[in-house]
Amino acid sequence: MNAKPPSTFHHVFVRGKSPRTLLLLHGTGGNEHDLVSLGRNLDPEASLLSPRGKILENGLPRFFRRLAEGVFDEEDLIRRTHELADFVKEAATSYSLESERIYAVGYSNGANIAASLLLLRPDILAGAALLRAMVPLVPEVLPKLNKISVLLLCGRYDPLVPEENARQLAALLTDAGAAVALHFENAGHQLTEHTFDATHRWLADQPF
Ligand code: MLT
Repeated sequence: MNAKPPSTFHHVFVRGKSPRTLLLLHGTGGNEHDLVSLGRNLDPEASLLSPRGKILENGLPRFFRRLAEGVFDEEDLIRRTHELADFVKEAATSYSLESERIYAVGYSNGANIAASLLLLRPDILAGAALLRAMVPLVPEVLPKLNKISVLLLCGRYDPLVPEENARQLAALLTDAGAAVALHFENAGHQLTEHTFDATHRWLADQPF
């Protein structure tokens, strides 16, 4: 019998038919339901694990605290990253997931904590699609990401993520050994049809 579902995060879990799991991480003001249909459309067969961020900023859920727009509370970010990593491990046990097949799909604040997971807990994810992400932190010691596949989809006109910052994130992950694909779309911070199509194609190329 499986252990009981993890209770550290409100979350949605939808069991799929393939060994892959998508860890869906919403943006500021989202919740655990936000990305479920996107995840299902991205991969009709995968299991979906979608937690809700625990921080409330003026009532809006997020995955970690920030001091101002684009300025992160690093101590809180580190703590929340480990908390999320532990939740994913616990969920993998409770729901009998293949832990080497967990791919993050994160948007905005969710993409930022997914990038932080890669940098601080490199054992958790098999790959990550980071949609409108920025550098969450620069760790003292770079992890060994061993060619783990990372898709970075950025908006050329994104008012929250300057192009330079997205390039720095790509460089940081590449220096850590990830296989990074960086693309700029003619878009702002919002997701577009192109973001969806590119993520869909990237996922189809990942082993499951
Ligand atoms: C963040 O705080 O993670 C980024 O600024 C993106 C967002 O607005 O959530």
